[in-house]
Amino acid sequence: MGIAKDFIFGTATSSFQIEGGSKEDGRSPSIWDDFCQIPGRVLNGHTGETACDHYHRYKEDIARMHELGADSYRFSISWSRIFPQQGIYNPKGMEFYKGILNELKRYHMTAMVTLYHWDLPSWAQRRGGWLNRESVNWFLEYCKKCFEELDNDVEFWITHNEPFCASFVSYFEGRHAPGHKHLEEAVKAAHHILLSHGRAVQLYRKCSGKKQIGIALNMTPAYPATDSFADQLAANNRNGYICRWFLDAVFKGRYPKDMVNLYAGQCKIDFSFIEDGDLGQIAEPCDFLGINYYFIDLIEYDLTNILLSRKAYYSTYKQTDMGWDIGVEEFIQLITWIRKEYTTLPVYITENGSAWDDTVDHGEIHDIDRAEYLIKHLEAVEQMNDLGLLVKGYYYWSFLDNFEWAWGYSKRFGLVYVNYETQERKNKDSFYTYQKYISQAKQSK
Ligand code: NOJ
Repeated sequence: MGIAKDFIFGTATSSFQIEGGSKEDGRSPSIWDDFCQIPGRVLNGHTGETACDHYHRYKEDIARMHELGADSYRFSISWSRIFPQQGIYNPKGMEFYKGILNELKRYHMTAMVTLYHWDLPSWAQRRGGWLNRESVNWFLEYCKKCFEELDNDVEFWITHNEPFCASFVSYFEGRHAPGHKHLEEAVKAAHHILLSHGRAVQLYRKCSGKKQIGIALNMTPAYPATDSFADQLAANNRNGYICRWFLDAVFKGRYPKDMVNLYAGQCKIDFSFIEDGDLGQIAEPCDFLGINYYFIDLIEYDLTNILLSRKAYYSTYKQTDMGWDIGVEEFIQLITWIRKEYTTLPVYITENGSAWDDTVDHGEIHDIDRAEYLIKHLEAVEQMNDLGLLVKGYYYWSFLDNFEWAWGYSKRFGLVYVNYETQERKNKDSFYTYQKYISQAKQSK
């Protein structure tokens, strides 16, 4: 049991994090190119200019995915390659993605394509970015072109990757581009991103899209650090902040009442940017739900900081190089909760993975912690399916070491090691662990 015949094993990346070629074939800058230029925003001043040079090495990289035995590759499209200026289409940019899809076809791998993985074109930011309601229309123009040009060779479309990060982490916590620290902006940006999701699903149906479309939500379940009432309250708020805000909108067509009260009351947010009918459109039915799962949060009540009260030092959990608490049981609890509360749609784990301080030892990378993390989470997925939770695929994050946003290249998540000086790739031990797992799972199917 555990793994069904049609279960998909994959691996994931995103455009800004691996492509490089940032000025090639007509691409214009994105907010992340700009953010990297601001001193102190990205560790060591790293940029996405060259990244993993995937722009020139995608054939070699996809051949390696085939060697891994992956059924599918999840990647994202850089919006500013496709529309370098507002309303100006750049076919050269589209050709790059056609090249990737052709290569995947050669190896009988399917494509899961993310339309927005945080690299908003700078031209859109100059016009207000996601704070401008017009951003919904700009996004739709871009989606339409992608659907028209690529739908034949794409199996799964993902409108947005982790809208929580593209809004709250970017407009309130200030850690991601554009680096603002304003809660009302974050709630507004989240609303427009969610609206652009629902409207893109509607558009896809209208364009007679033949494949499946969904969204990838990051879920970090929060647990109270102690069983005190105050900590439970704080954990509930934290779950509302990261998880329920997005799940309720997409599946119930409303924002959670307790969080609306918190934002409107204590935080004085003015919700007048929500127009009649918006929430109905946000809840336009999808074909599947993508979940990005990495870790759990232990939460302590903190009167001064009601939303950001994460207190990792309570933890007795094993932590990754990001300082993230590894929670395997909690992964199963999360999917069980989502099934019960929100949806019967097929679930795909669109990201799961871990960063470790890898070292090269006589040309080899013995990343036992990553391999252990991987196996434990794959076994958890098997258990979920034994429980009847219908998880239909798993994409490991990430195929290659890459640009980890504000951490630059200092955090390594890859199954494949990248030497950023030479761009040489080297399979880590975890690559072979995953390879073996996939091949055994296929034999027993
Ligand atoms: C989620 C994001 O989608 C991805 O871009 C990031 O690198 C991983 N988490 C690891 O933090």
